[in-house]
Amino acid sequence: MPATCVVGLQWGDEAKGKIVDLLTEQHDIVVRYQGGANAGHTVVMNGEKYKLSLVPSGIFRPEVQCVIAGGVVLNPASLIEEIDGLTSRGVKVAENLMISDRAHVIFPWHFEEDRLLDQQCTSGEAIGTTMRGIGPCYRDKVGRSLAVRLGDMYRSNFRERIASIVEVKKHLLSVPGSAAEPSHLDAEEIFRTYSAYAERLRPHVADTTSYLLDAIEADKRVLFEGAQGALLDIDHGTFPFVTSSNSSGVGVSPGSGVPGRHMSKVIGIIKAYTTRVGGGPFPTEQDNETGQHIRDRGNEYGTVTRRPRRCGWFDAVAARYTTRLSGVDVLAVMLLDVLSQLPELKICVAYELSGRRTTTFPSHVDDLREVVPVYETLPGWQEEITDVRSIDQLPANAKAYLRRIAELLGRPVEVVSVGPDRQQTMFAQA
Ligand code: GDP
Ligand code: IMO
Ligand code: MG
Repeated sequence: MPATCVVGLQWGDEAKGKIVDLLTEQHDIVVRYQGGANAGHTVVMNGEKYKLSLVPSGIFRPEVQCVIAGGVVLNPASLIEEIDGLTSRGVKVAENLMISDRAHVIFPWHFEEDRLLDQQCTSGEAIGTTMRGIGPCYRDKVGRSLAVRLGDMYRSNFRERIASIVEVKKHLLSVPGSAAEPSHLDAEEIFRTYSAYAERLRPHVADTTSYLLDAIEADKRVLFEGAQGALLDIDHGTFPFVTSSNSSGVGVSPGSGVPGRHMSKVIGIIKAYTTRVGGGPFPTEQDNETGQHIRDRGNEYGTVTRRPRRCGWFDAVAARYTTRLSGVDVLAVMLLDVLSQLPELKICVAYELSGRRTTTFPSHVDDLREVVPVYETLPGWQEEITDVRSIDQLPANAKAYLRRIAELLGRPVEVVSVGPDRQQTMFAQA
């Protein structure tokens, strides 16, 4: 039975939430498997907008089981707030949400560390994190000795565990000259607050790895919802300007516990252009009128932090790399409507690095900083396309633009989106 993965191929915010919501109809289970409340996924239906950070975008269909798998880092306060927000708007969140007892938990010290360390990047440029404690929590996960998993919060030694970690964290955070104020880390208060969170989340907590393995064996249809984008992958992205998990297609198995051999389809999500939030090189960035045109039309402001997103032309070198890295079968091209009314469109088809032309995405951030994009120019289209409902009906220049992207990435375009709503989505005829 098919397991499908939805993966962002750029620097995040490719409109993964919209696609997951649409595909949910054909699936029994939707799984978030990495990242945390740094993600902001938007689902729009009947004119109502919902923003999801931790809860999978399958939550709007009550018959679908949603799973937050062990690869996610969890801020219980955010999750509870999100559940309450959904419930107050009539969305059912009960036994249809399952959370892994293996998920690592974000604590107040992780926020302190995020603030303290974001500025300390070697290049002098800040990563510009979402300040959600994501990197520090993943660091403790890999470091093991100061980590707490959701399942640990139900053990009899939880109070002692918090006390001993707070002791160490206070020491670590009292770096001379540090802006952090670790003194407010009160072990007993943290224990009490987190015990209350644990009680609140108890009905949802389960061994999701076994659940998913059983589900796959029972031929259930499983949909994996990626967070962030492949260029933010900790191992394969634009390090160190990345997030702290495997946000490309390679992260599905470690995050969920389901082996890659069960993945039958990977859908790569791309914007028709490129955006990035936070620091780091961005070869096709348009810090000019074109960038502003895209920002205005695409409402390109961070879902989580509301920061203006950096905007630029479609980078086929980067997207071809992440298409291959993520094992993508088909593409979904989102926000095509945003490009309407531009006289011409550029696609970056190669980079020039040290005077040589290449289509290989550089592995070192310093080289990526140096590359000069080689552009191909295509004619734009002036028509608004938000009401178009079939790919055939798109303006000829829009179809040519999609064809060129498919050619450069070596994968067919299966989905085209021309607006945030469910109805503003077109599927290629098989
Ligand atoms: P995600 O993090 O990948 O789920 O994406 P975000 O939700 O952060 O950002 C995508 C934004 O684009 C959201 O505000 C969506 O409502 C919006 N959106 C999705 N598809 C389209 C589209 O085809 N056209 C336009 N104009 N907006 C879209
Ligand atoms: P979704 O799932 C866009 C970026 C941050 C920062 C870097 C590291 O909505 O696509 P972190 O807080 O993760 O340590 O920040 O990663 N970032 C995102 N950018 N969309 C996201 O998620 C992001 N999640 C993290 O802006 O540059
Ligand atoms: Mg987002």
